[in-house]
Order: sequence, then structure tokens, then C-alpha cells
Amino acid sequence: PERTVTFGPSEADLDQAAALLRAGRLVAFATETVYGLGGDARLGEAVAAIYAAKGRPSFNPLIAHVASVAAAQQLVQWNDWADMLASAFWPGPMTLVLPLRLGHGVSELVTAGLPTLAVRVPAHPTAQRLLDKVGGPVAAPSANPSGKISPTTAQHVADGLSGRIAAIVDDGPCSVGLESTIIGLAGDNPMLLRPGGVPAEAIEAALGRKLVAHDAGDPLTAPGQLLSHYAPTASVRLNAQTPRPGELFLGFGPGICDLNLSAAGDLLEAAANLFGHLHRLDGMGKPIAVAPIPDRGLGVAINDRLRRAAAPRD
Ligand code: TXA
Ligand code: MG
Repeated sequence: PERTVTFGPSEADLDQAAALLRAGRLVAFATETVYGLGGDARLGEAVAAIYAAKGRPSFNPLIAHVASVAAAQQLVQWNDWADMLASAFWPGPMTLVLPLRLGHGVSELVTAGLPTLAVRVPAHPTAQRLLDKVGGPVAAPSANPSGKISPTTAQHVADGLSGRIAAIVDDGPCSVGLESTIIGLAGDNPMLLRPGGVPAEAIEAALGRKLVAHDAGDPLTAPGQLLSHYAPTASVRLNAQTPRPGELFLGFGPGICDLNLSAAGDLLEAAANLFGHLHRLDGMGKPIAVAPIPDRGLGVAINDRLRRAAAPRD
């Protein structure tokens, strides 16, 4: 195993992290959604190393992270919907899937051979500075071993990937705590490919039209959206009013529980706490029961992740 070093957000540290990335090494870094496992998107070997470090079973396409809208426009064929959404939500927790542009320079391993690319301009200031220093697209899935809970702190990353990556850029807990909302803009209608940090209602308001729900049967729309994902080791029971004997209770709103996503019933706070609380409860070695979460706004993405955590696995 290699020695994984931890960097902070200082100028000197980010210079070193960027140099590692440009040399084809893997560097996990803080974003506002979850920690990403970064590799230079132009270097096939770096991207292959991402899949190997995560233990991803197949080459699912990855998100290319860039520092600016202008940088995104060099990679993909831009359109009016992209303009509307980028001006409303970038930098931020939203990813756009668009047709690749000629001469994009991104490794085929990033797109898994698809004619489209997922791109995101993250809002986290440290991620921004790092991307700026790299000067090119950085492919980054969530920085967890395949199938495990997504990381919202540097410690989560270290627990899962220490010894398998060159470095971690630690800049504290992630403020959003859920992965980005993914919108497909390569077809006839804007499509919700994955609920996430920007509620679908907000996207629809910016577009002035409804999003088409993604078709789970269509391999082109959302590859890699495996049902059992974000899985704790412990079993997870959803929509529980009260815990059964021996269960740990993950609450929402007022009431007695082992950990509360938000005692105030605030969905923003619940999203930010979700993965961290699951990590903590999972470490206690007992089954987990989860209180009902309202299915609106960010609650849609929270419930999506909880359903995946609760799905049967092999
Ligand atoms: O917030 C996030 O999005 C985080 C941070 C690190 O940016 N990243 C993240 O990446 O969640 P990952 O690899 O865990 O999820 C990327 C998702 C996958 O479900 C993949 O199938 C989908 O994006 N995806 C990537 N490229 C695609 C494409 N060309 N068409 C459709 N879906 C795509
Ligand atoms: Mg992931």
C-alpha cells in the first residue's frame, strides 16, 4: 500500500495536490456535496486507477469537474438549457450531461465509451482553487469503496481508501452532504438522471418546464445507478415510527432517537447529516431503523439514498 498524505487548504498544500494530479496520481478532495476521488480526466491510467482504488465492478461513467463554465464549454456541446441551468446553479451541486465536443481530450474511460459527458463546476472554494491549479478536467466519483456510504469528511475517506490513494485534501465536513443532482441535456427533453443537492423543483423553475423522469430501463440515461449502493454493513429499515428492540433509531424531527438527522425537521440540515450519521450508526454493529422523511425538496434525494441503503444486497 502507498502512504496517503493529508493536505489542508493552504496554497502550498494545494500546489502539491495539483502537482500529484497532473502526474497521474489520485487525490481525494472536499467538495460541497461529498468528497471526490480525483484523477486527471485526460490521463487514461489515472482514470483506470480510480476504478481500481474504488473496486468498482465495471467502468461506470464519471463526472468531469472543472473550475468554470468556460472550461465546461470546451468539453461539451453547449445548448440553451445548459445556459439556463449553469447561470442559475453553477458553481454548485448540479451536474449536466451533454454531448461530447470534438477535441475534448477526455479519456474514454471517463465516459465509459458514451457519446456524452457529465460535467460539474463545484462551489467549494478549495475544490475551485485545486481545479484552477490543475488547469484541466478532474474525473471524480465519490471517494468511497464501491457500494459503501459516500464520504462527507476526510476521515470517512481515510477509513475507506487510505493506502490506495496518494493524498486527501481535508477541508472539513461537506456542507450539502448529498451528491449533485444530475440533469441529462443530450436528448429532446431535459431529464432528471439522479436527484441530489439541488431540488428538482428548483431546476424546473429555472427551465420553466417539467423534467422528464429518467427511464431506469434505458442503459444510456443513468448507467451505474445500481439499486444497492450507499450501503452500510448493517441492515436498514425505512419509514419506522419507532425502533424495534435491538435497533438503532435514526430520527427526523422531535422525539427520542439515537441520532437525529434534524431535530428541527429541516431537510437541508438532514441532507448534510445523512451520510455522517449512517457512518456512525453503521460502526455500532446493530440494525438501523430510520424515521419517515418528507418526500419533497431535498427529501426526494435523501429518500433516494435511504432506499439504496436499505435495498437487499448480495
Ligand atoms: O456530487 C457529486 O456528484 C459527487 C462529487 C464528487 O462531485 N460525485 C459523484 O460521482 O457522485 P459518482 O461517480 O458517484 O456518480 C456519478 C453518476 C453515476 O451514477 C453515473 O452513472 C452518472 O453520474 N453519469 C456519469 N456520466 C454519465 C453520462 N455520460 N450519462 C449518464 N450518466 C452519467
Ligand atoms: Mg458514488
